[in-house]
Amino acid sequence: MNRDSRFMIFLYAGMALVPLFLFLYLVSAIAHLPYETWMLGLAAAWMIIFGAVGSVEIYAHGREPEERMPLIEGERVNKGLGSERGERPKGAEQVNVRIRRFNPGTKRFDEYAYRVYEDKLATVLDTLLKIKSVHDNTLSMRYSCRMGICGSCGMVANGKPILACETNLLSQLDENKSITVEPMRGHPVLKDLVTDFDTFFEKHASVEPHLYRKDKEEQYSADSAYRQTKGQVNDFLPYSYCIMCGLCMDACPVVNSNTEFVGPQALSQIYRYYKDSRDQGGKRRLLDADNLHGAWGCEFSGSCSKACPKGVDPASAIQLLKASIISDFGEKA
Ligand code: SF4
Ligand code: FES
Repeated sequence: MNRDSRFMIFLYAGMALVPLFLFLYLVSAIAHLPYETWMLGLAAAWMIIFGAVGSVEIYAHGREPEERMPLIEGERVNKGLGSERGERPKGAEQVNVRIRRFNPGTKRFDEYAYRVYEDKLATVLDTLLKIKSVHDNTLSMRYSCRMGICGSCGMVANGKPILACETNLLSQLDENKSITVEPMRGHPVLKDLVTDFDTFFEKHASVEPHLYRKDKEEQYSADSAYRQTKGQVNDFLPYSYCIMCGLCMDACPVVNSNTEFVGPQALSQIYRYYKDSRDQGGKRRLLDADNLHGAWGCEFSGSCSKACPKGVDPASAIQLLKASIISDFGEKA
């Protein structure tokens, strides 16, 4: 029960006390009862009312974590600390988790702080799910596979874009044993840690990330597989590991300042299909990248490749794409 609930119980019980007092006073005056008798009656009735109102309050609002109290000073810090309940698990460390949550109602970010015990195997996602189940079930985040495959759980931890299900919690702590988790910045935020990927997927789709064949009929009725040598596969293989998590877009300073820039994810996919010997997009692939919102918009900060959890290296894909535009343009059909 939190302080607000307790206050309401006292308020209701206090309000009930006044008419009760008057009623008992009148009854005792009419019946000429001694002072002690009606005072005892009053105390018993008040306790019954207090118990009943308290039970209804707990039933209606459920039990909330104890010790919710202000932890951090600061303008945006307006919620309290949920403390870990029960025994400290063996080998676990106490961790302060701050979460910057977007409130779509007020259109502002609020910072919440929680204290949890976690062992060395916990991922950031494990901890967020624990906070959601133990402290605050209103916390929203996106995740699915929990094994670094679906690309859903991208977020920012201590300023770094991460996949929450693949990132060890203790490895991310600062010197105060704290971690601050917030939504990705390169995508519009919907609620708490959940971001909107519509624009990201539109940019991805705009580069036609699939095999392009000039003979469509043959493509859909081919009677054998398109064969490739090992070397031909290796030309595009590293770029095909993209899981569309959007972390490279989040880390890219150009994406964050120019919404038209198609970004490292889509550009690396242009290069991936350009280098695929089965693809016949050729010049049209290069044309997609040959503009200021394409490959030439890249300032080669390299942060996309650092952020990529799958080692796709979009920064190098973009530079190779620039080189291909310059060298291959005349040659490709
Ligand atoms: S290139 Fe890497 S960081 Fe970018 S979307 Fe693909 S997997 Fe994620
Ligand atoms: S939940 Fe699928 S990549 Fe993290």
